[in-house]
Amino acid sequence: MCGIIATVGRNRAIPVLLEGLHRLEYRGYDSAGLAVLDGGRLVLHRKVGRVRELEAQVPAEQPGTVGIAHTRWATHGGVTEANAHPHLDTTGRIAVVHNGIIENMSALRARLEGEGVRFRSETDSEILAHLIGRYYFAEDGSETAGRPVAAVRAALRVVRGTWGIAALFADHPELIVAARNGSPLVIGLGEGQSYLASDSHALVPYTRRVVFLDDGEVARIDASGVQTWHSDGAQVDNAIETLEEVWGDGDKGRYPHLMLKEIHEQPEALSRCLSGRVVSETGTARLGGLDLSPRDLARISRVGLLGCGTAYHACRVGAQLIEAATRVPAKAEIASEFRHRNPVVDPDALFFAVSQSGETADTLGAVKEIQIKGGEVMGVVNVVGSSIARACGRGVYIHSGPEMSVASTKAFSNMVAALAVFTLMLARQRGLSVHDGRAYIQQLLDVPSRVAAYLDEPGPIDELVSWVTAPTTNMVLFLGRGLSAPVAAEGALKLMEVAYIPCIAYPAGEMKHGPIALLEEGSPVIVIAPRDALQDKTLSNLQECKARGARVALIHTAGDPVGRYADLSIPVPDTHPFFSPLLTVLPLQLLAYRAGLALGRDIDRPRNLAKSVTVE
Ligand code: M6R
Repeated sequence: MCGIIATVGRNRAIPVLLEGLHRLEYRGYDSAGLAVLDGGRLVLHRKVGRVRELEAQVPAEQPGTVGIAHTRWATHGGVTEANAHPHLDTTGRIAVVHNGIIENMSALRARLEGEGVRFRSETDSEILAHLIGRYYFAEDGSETAGRPVAAVRAALRVVRGTWGIAALFADHPELIVAARNGSPLVIGLGEGQSYLASDSHALVPYTRRVVFLDDGEVARIDASGVQTWHSDGAQVDNAIETLEEVWGDGDKGRYPHLMLKEIHEQPEALSRCLSGRVVSETGTARLGGLDLSPRDLARISRVGLLGCGTAYHACRVGAQLIEAATRVPAKAEIASEFRHRNPVVDPDALFFAVSQSGETADTLGAVKEIQIKGGEVMGVVNVVGSSIARACGRGVYIHSGPEMSVASTKAFSNMVAALAVFTLMLARQRGLSVHDGRAYIQQLLDVPSRVAAYLDEPGPIDELVSWVTAPTTNMVLFLGRGLSAPVAAEGALKLMEVAYIPCIAYPAGEMKHGPIALLEEGSPVIVIAPRDALQDKTLSNLQECKARGARVALIHTAGDPVGRYADLSIPVPDTHPFFSPLLTVLPLQLLAYRAGLALGRDIDRPRNLAKSVTVE
């Protein structure tokens, strides 16, 4: 989603801004722009489309050592150059970039228009530029007049919503003002040069010394460092942290797309997630980041798992594992629904906020709701130091390594693996024997090599691609029961987002209560039925589909003769039924990838989507 990069110091700003914008591209965007100060004049460049198109428009030797830049993912207003950031105030001497949403936009816009302001865009963000200008250029004597930090603080007092902003003042070439409320910002400290970004990935080429802004803070950034204040004006003593997990630059390696690379990274990523966390000797698990003693574990009355999209599907798998293995009630819930239903938060429950990016606004909102109600919530997150990880304070990093393709693949697997490790820890405390704990560990540790074996020989995926991409196909139905129901949902989500093919996922038993009406001669149906206690029932549903003329592909355990019931058999290596989602999801990831490829889609950056969804 939207991204911010800014810099101030002794070096030319443009190379830093462009490099930063490139590093933010993976988040998804539709336009980009930047502003630099050149001899007291604000120079603005904006472009719809890719960062490389903006780059082509910016003079190579553009001077200026202070600048702000932005990638925009449209919320208010279409994808146009006028709506791209930065936005200027009426004098053209203040430029602002903004991530987030101004909720009282209509009232503020009407008020400013009533005062004679002429808006140049349809965005909510432009309001910020005008408001800041209004306070900065206030009559002499006003305490905000000519004072950048005071003007920003005053402007934000009348705004409701979420923001991460950077503001540039033509009269102050020595500084940038930043402010955060619900949209992440991190300040990078270099030698005689400082940086600001919405994502620490953009700072990596320059520095690892960073200060994370917290909600409600306003910062003055200059070449020598940063000063920060709360919204009430009290100065904050921010800790300088060191970025420890530094991600590469999204290099595709030997793969044509990041998505394919990340699919193939799963064996290694899974091993990394498990490594050092399962203890064969005692048949249990160690998750130091949770900081839960056996006594704490004993007090857990229930487990709630919250996430969005793929993370929600991982939550559904995790909830079933936890409940089945520990007998502690566990429930997965879509984070974007959670806080809006005024949930009851049991103080003895343990919640997990599951998120690859750690920046998903809906999941972060759920974290806050739990905390407000006195609940305990921990992160299951990939990005170290992300907003959710920091808000939770405790949790499990899933250690997928960088996931830059918008379609999440290896993060799903590692979320499931991390939750499987937690399941073991809780199960041992709740009576699982050391013998059974060891068997669980053995099966779990075998998963990465089985994933690798499948990826080496994935079976007849291309035939399935030809079914789902056929001009006669108007919908694909995915079915599974138990642990395979969330896998079906994940397969459908992946095929929709990468190939833009309409898909429906249903728990197989529900199919006859409605979706069966959609089936006609040749309709593609993908059934997930590994060898488990529910397989027979799912196979009956498969027969019901076939009886209505559907073409059925069956994802099943290798060596299981059930493949003969389907028109297309896709075997995956055997594993303990608990871990089958880690195998059965693989053909579905490859299907989405290859179908997207066959249809000429933008695989790593599908239309309309963003990698981290930082608005509600
Ligand atoms: O970063 P998160 O895991 O919190 O993201 C949640 C969803 O936005 C994400 O999983 C989305 O559904 C993916 N694009 C799916 O591939």
